Amino acid sequence: MKLKTVEVKNVLRCEELFDNLNSRSAIVEGIGLVHGPSGFGKTTTMTWLFNQDHVDAIYVRCRATDTPSSLLTKIAFEMGLEPKYPLGRMVDDIVERMRYKELSLFVDEVDYVIGSARIMESLRDIYDLTQQPVLLIGMDQIARRISHRKQLFNRISEWIEFQPADFEDVALFADELLENEIRLEEDLLDAVQRKANGEVRRILSALEKIERKAIAADRDKISLDDVDIREIFLDSRRR
Ligand SMILES: Nc1ncnc2c1ncn2[C@@H]1O[C@H](COP(=O)(O)OP(=O)(O)O)[C@@H](O)[C@H]1O
Ligand SMILES: [Mg+2]
Repeated sequence: MKLKTVEVKNVLRCEELFDNLNSRSAIVEGIGLVHGPSGFGKTTTMTWLFNQDHVDAIYVRCRATDTPSSLLTKIAFEMGLEPKYPLGRMVDDIVERMRYKELSLFVDEVDYVIGSARIMESLRDIYDLTQQPVLLIGMDQIARRISHRKQLFNRISEWIEFQPADFEDVALFADELLENEIRLEEDLLDAVQRKANGEVRRILSALEKIERKAIAADRDKISLDDVDIREIFLDSRRR
């Protein structure tokens, strides 16, 4: 399998969301929310976006143990700043750097910190004081949980829920990731899409197994008849 980010629909939608946040007029708020189930490709998409030449952003990933201090320290570190205390001074530094460099802030795995009012308010402060795009990324629950934080919720102007990969997406993954020009017939692509329930992690694991079989059999065209689809999906049950 080749290692690259395939520009499937969810990826293109995120790019559009980010462009919208950047080109918005002064009266439109600049926080974006990206959510969807685990394994759908959110982190991969954000990392890809972050690495685009025209994107000046910093990316941080929250953890279960994060406190306001640890998260702000991570953000400061990514900006090349020394941590400062009290935390208000750290926020001032972050704000100054973000404004000066016109940086966007991507915060992944927001689920872990959404229960902390101080963390969520610090993120809102950073947005309010910079007006730079802030992208919050998380799983299903964040959309609902964030709606209870009115101050933050009111600043969200762009919103994407990751959709299951469809047939076209699966075909694109196969086309761009498989080695040796291996091609899957439509019936197999369709079976992979249905069995994986559109979850990218499961799609890629299935494609990898199919690729291995194709290489072992020295074939470059594979159809549903050539594989045992149940075996392909045996150890990739939904987590
Ligand atoms: N657009 C993509 N192109 C290539 N691989 C992808 C893509 N989206 C997801 N993947 C792969 O699928 C797996 C799960 O993706 P991930 O970004 O971790 O999902 P999430 O953050 O939504 O849980 C990863 O191993 C990643 O490499
Ligand atoms: Mg992720």
